[in-house]
Amino acid sequence: MKMEVITTPEATEFDVVVIGGGPGGYSTALYGASAGLRVAVVEHDKVGGTCLHRGCVPAKEFLETASVVRTVAGAKEFGVQAGQPVVDFAVSQGRKQKVVDQLFKGLAGLMKGRGIVTFDGTGTLLPDHRVRVEPNPGAEGGAFEITGRNVVLATGSAPRTIPGFDVDGRLVLTSDEVLSLEALPASLAVIGGGAIGCEFASMFSDLGCQVTVLEALPTLLTGCDKDVVAVVARSFRKRGITVHTGVKVTGHTPNGAGTTVSFGDGESVTVDAVVVSVGRRPLSERLLADGTGVTVDDRGFVTVDEYQRTTADGVWAVGDVVDTPQLAHVGFAEGILAIKTMLGEAALPVEYSRVPWAIYCHPEVAFAGLTEAQAEEAGIDVVVKKDPFGGNSRARILGETDGLVKVVAERLPDGRAGRILGVHMVGPWVTEQLGQGYLAVNWEATPEEVGQFIQPHPSLSEAFGETVLALTGRGLHVG
Ligand code: NAI
Repeated sequence: MKMEVITTPEATEFDVVVIGGGPGGYSTALYGASAGLRVAVVEHDKVGGTCLHRGCVPAKEFLETASVVRTVAGAKEFGVQAGQPVVDFAVSQGRKQKVVDQLFKGLAGLMKGRGIVTFDGTGTLLPDHRVRVEPNPGAEGGAFEITGRNVVLATGSAPRTIPGFDVDGRLVLTSDEVLSLEALPASLAVIGGGAIGCEFASMFSDLGCQVTVLEALPTLLTGCDKDVVAVVARSFRKRGITVHTGVKVTGHTPNGAGTTVSFGDGESVTVDAVVVSVGRRPLSERLLADGTGVTVDDRGFVTVDEYQRTTADGVWAVGDVVDTPQLAHVGFAEGILAIKTMLGEAALPVEYSRVPWAIYCHPEVAFAGLTEAQAEEAGIDVVVKKDPFGGNSRARILGETDGLVKVVAERLPDGRAGRILGVHMVGPWVTEQLGQGYLAVNWEATPEEVGQFIQPHPSLSEAFGETVLALTGRGLHVG
């Protein structure tokens, strides 16, 4: 669908001008418009941003394809004869694109319905809350200016690359290119074993590709709880994914159809393609003209206070262009916070140490709050309980028993468990199960309080209930 966009403005004065139409920008716009503000968005591509077009949504759609492959491959165990699954990747691509297009159409319609004016072009902040809109190449009309009583910077981020790995879309890819591949490579090296790297490694392995992960740090998924990482690492190993941690990648040498990647102490791997997933950098280079008063740090992040205010009055920044967790839902929260604050309403800053994290590799990972190691580093004495999914009826029924729930609580002077500080999950559908753990952590609830609540039986969520009950000192199944 071609969005209805404006290249020659009829109106130039707005309550809020948002530069960038990704999750940070569109949530700001939708929330602002719901509050009765007159809002404009400047976007040079499609609203929805990286998340909808080149990130979260297409990646999760392909991970669902991977899940279907696993289900079909395991069907015999249930007495269902389905044969070995064969992936027709063109069809998978088509389905992914259909999902993305439907969501894009829905978002564009929602924005239009709320009276949000979308300008097609690149926005640059000028002094005095003016925004210059440079139409996209080939578009009619020249550059023009609009003004907002408030301006919100939401230009997002782009994949980081590493020296010696020039992205060509054939041998060397980032998440931008991987999600539009026309055919599956037979072998792949994934550089970086963080959230994106593990999602791609898991997905391509399930789709039949030979995957090697090269990670500079000592473990996969740095920042996740060590028990959770161990489950993912074991599953990767069992499924034939090769993981090298603590290795430095030194370069690659193309050889006909593929390339040989060198790493570590003279080691190498020859693959069809390389995916570089070593983090994302903020997109702030051409965002600010001289004299705006907005400060950008030495890594390119726009500086904000805890209410998303930049150093210039009436200019705000949200999403990946600020130095907070690069998660779409954090962008949503920051957009809402910015609008509430500009309206003078009571608003709570985002508690970044307690936001929900969800990584959709197989097995899935989800968590909120402190890991056991982080709590100990902070000098907090903790009580910890874990419930492996192996003992959970629903997980057995599904045939998905890899994983566990781990709850970290502070230790009270009498040794009992006090406030729940962290909930860490790995296993089937945990990204959908984290809600209760997220609430417990953010409500600063105790195991006694949460243990009162009943979980349906049989359900995966019983693992969380069991773990919390065990923390009261009296578990049913967990000691
Ligand atoms: P990341 O920061 O999560 O992981 C990058 C990994 O690459 C790190 O483990 C790092 O040690 C490693 N690395 C860096 N340079 C390297 C090198 N030269 N050689 C080998 N390894 C190297 O970044 P990622 O995975 O690219 O994701 C970007 C952002 O997007 C993150 O903030 C992530 O949290 C977010 N994201 C979240 C998702 C989710 O929650 N489901 C999914 C995708 C992204």
